[in-house]
Amino acid sequence: MSESSSPGAPCCLQVCRLMRPEDTNIVGNVHGGTILKMIEEAGCIVSTRHCNTQDGDHCVAALARVEKTEFLSPMFIGEVAHVSAEITYTSQRSVEVQAHVVAENILTGAKKLTNKAALWYVPCSLKNVEEIKDVPPITYASPELEEEGRKRYETQKALRQSSNERSDEVVAPPPNPVPLSGCGTPRSPVPLAGSSAEKHTVGFSQSSLIHLVGPSDCTMNDFVHGGVTMKLMDEVAGIVAARHCNTNIVTACVDAINFHRKIKKGSVVKVQGRMTFTSNRSMEIEVIVEVEPLVEVDKGKYCAVSAFFTFISLDKKNRPLPVPLLKVEGEDEERRFREGNARYLHNKEKRLAERERQQ
Ligand code: COA
Repeated sequence: MSESSSPGAPCCLQVCRLMRPEDTNIVGNVHGGTILKMIEEAGCIVSTRHCNTQDGDHCVAALARVEKTEFLSPMFIGEVAHVSAEITYTSQRSVEVQAHVVAENILTGAKKLTNKAALWYVPCSLKNVEEIKDVPPITYASPELEEEGRKRYETQKALRQSSNERSDEVVAPPPNPVPLSGCGTPRSPVPLAGSSAEKHTVGFSQSSLIHLVGPSDCTMNDFVHGGVTMKLMDEVAGIVAARHCNTNIVTACVDAINFHRKIKKGSVVKVQGRMTFTSNRSMEIEVIVEVEPLVEVDKGKYCAVSAFFTFISLDKKNRPLPVPLLKVEGEDEERRFREGNARYLHNKEKRLAERERQQ
């Protein structure tokens, strides 16, 4: 990544990076997770810098929340991603960063906005990670901007009260009922009709990955970067979506995510995804990150974070395709489908209202 920030403006940062094959899926679309990771890295740098502009212990800004993020246009291999991050509000102990991502075609010079995101960071002392530091206040360009920031802060604070409660209720899905061939268990070439392994059921596409948290995943205080976790989550959600429709799939949006618990170096994370809802042309996938500490075993397993990802299936010209209807089985899956439908209708209404407001 290359970086530029104007002198005397520690609240802003601009970075850019060429998109390479390892950043994309097999047809060359940049993964949503790669973009989320770049955004989070920029946000972490700008907020950590800002929080260390005062005397006292050094601190690292930990990602606490990402507001709902939409992927507005696709980005492709060979394009340059320009990420800009700016501190737009500070409360006593948290920092709001707004980030924009623009994709530049370096052959034609054409640029398009691909993402807008809002992230909240909380400064944790390097000496004692449990100690949250006060944030130096920023200077606002006008009292109106400060007031708007305060309203966003109050709104997210109210919203996360309910999601704090939700995180204790999150239940990881049972193991995938489809055994893999070549792993000692014989597998029928076509999943059994009528069983939970039938195509387009929740069980058929359900997927998980296991990752050992190493130094390259971590911040200076040996806890995982939020961007690393979001990238793993997007990867699993993408596998679920591709298993369901067997086409090129892309991330359309990610609902607000709260990071309630830190994940320490040396932990094993199990990232599990299951489809909860399909509309005509979109799929909603719930992703749960379960953490198992390998050293501090007495802490036991815990759910660090969960989120809903929406994916779209695309044809060869990148136009949205219809997706197979999710076959739900049992009361639990029916309930999740109804809840997914309600989120879908709510999000669609908000998107349409936003579009009208912009016209
Ligand atoms: N979103 C936004 N702000 C949050 C937040 C969230 N999810 N959780 C806490 N905060 C803010 C509070 O508003 C408060 O600021 P204020 O006093 O200005 O209002 C400040 O953080 C401290 O709140 P408190 O309730 O005392 O904090 P906490 O004990 O819940 O700890 C974290 C907050 C973020 C440090 C803690 O939840 C944590 O460690 N989360 C994991 C962070 C991480 O590792 N991220 C990457 C995960 S992969």
